[in-house]
Amino acid sequence: MSIYATPDDGRKWLKDKTYGRLEQGMPGNAGRRCAKLHDAKRRGGCRTGGDSGWGRAMMAARQRLTGPGSARHVPVLAGPVLEQLNLRDGGIYIDGTFGAGGYSRAILNAADTQVIGIDRDQSAVALGADFVAAAEGRLTLVEERFSSLDQVARRFGHEQVDGVVLDLGVSSMQLDQAERGFSFRHDGPLDMRMGADGPSAADVVARASERELADMIFQLGEERRSRAVARAIVAARTDAPIRTTAALADIVARVVRSRPGDIHPATRTFQALRIFVNDELGELAEALAAAERILKPSGRLVVVTFHSLEDRIVKTFLAERSGTVGVSRHLPDVETPAPTFRLMTRRPIAPDDAEIAANPRARSAKLRAAERLDAPSRDSDMAGLLPRLPLLAAVVRQP
Ligand SMILES: C[S@@+](CC[C@H](N)C(=O)[O-])C[C@H]1O[C@@H](n2cnc3c(N)ncnc32)[C@H](O)[C@@H]1O
Repeated sequence: MSIYATPDDGRKWLKDKTYGRLEQGMPGNAGRRCAKLHDAKRRGGCRTGGDSGWGRAMMAARQRLTGPGSARHVPVLAGPVLEQLNLRDGGIYIDGTFGAGGYSRAILNAADTQVIGIDRDQSAVALGADFVAAAEGRLTLVEERFSSLDQVARRFGHEQVDGVVLDLGVSSMQLDQAERGFSFRHDGPLDMRMGADGPSAADVVARASERELADMIFQLGEERRSRAVARAIVAARTDAPIRTTAALADIVARVVRSRPGDIHPATRTFQALRIFVNDELGELAEALAAAERILKPSGRLVVVTFHSLEDRIVKTFLAERSGTVGVSRHLPDVETPAPTFRLMTRRPIAPDDAEIAANPRARSAKLRAAERLDAPSRDSDMAGLLPRLPLLAAVVRQP
């Protein structure tokens, strides 16, 4: 196995000629290129091998992930995921949320398959290097957004695939790294970006209007005190910029009361900002459409969600595409397009008590699965599945 850095090219910096491929950005794919050197180092390094700065950054990232207080991500509902994917030898599967590679590993171990792993987080991709090596050509790992998973598959020569799996949200590693700014439990910069570019949560908190903050926190965090939280943020930022997770958590805790045993008062506000900064719901809606385009007949789509906003999008999409949405008998007859999916899970699969006890992160997980049918994919606008909120770019453009 030879994982090597290409020192003259800051974009394609990890590649295995012989076995699997580990890739970060393709030429001409400007949005997904490797971030600048300092940014990659700050985030845990993206090159590996040798005694280079990259190698040291990589080692440091590994140590952070395995050191005290840092848990390796435990895959949720792995058994049902495998069962619903209905793996077959020779099949090509897309793991759209590679993370620590838990699902990819399970898929590769369970049958003679090939996996295309996708993650928008460059440290997840970099940390997958050893796994790519060990997989001996069966795993391709790409730094990309899962909204373009069909394009990724085609880029690697696959016009159709046998399965797509998505395990939404953040990984334990992302939550545990204070410098990523996802968690109010670890003080760090108010960042929250899964990918290497774009505005951070601090930018949103600094620029969004009070009304935008309130709408965002209400719709994406389902926080009943959203108006009070937005007011408190706007009042605080006139005194000093809100730059850290601890500063934001303090501001929220002053206006959202919690009783012993409740979740932390800042939980819902942090969730809202994270979803907004990463356009998580837009990504999900586009990924479902992309899966519809790339799955072959009998191919399986399996999605694990962690909150009601995500689950509602998956449920609505699958109900529409499988023709299981109830149609009022008072409406005029309209021709409904042929279903593109058959539902495999009328009710979502949830983890059992033993899994929740062993892995509390599994608590709110729901799995939905569907099988692709023969009908052509629908070229429909996915915006109808999303809450109405301003775009991130519009919010941060304001003075
Ligand atoms: C819950 S973790 C997945 C864990 C993985 N199933 C495992 O067993 O290790 C979610 C991962 O998806 C990635 N992710 C989230 N949104 C994404 C997107 N739109 N495109 C690509 N990756 C994304 C995150 O960076 C994170 O690494």
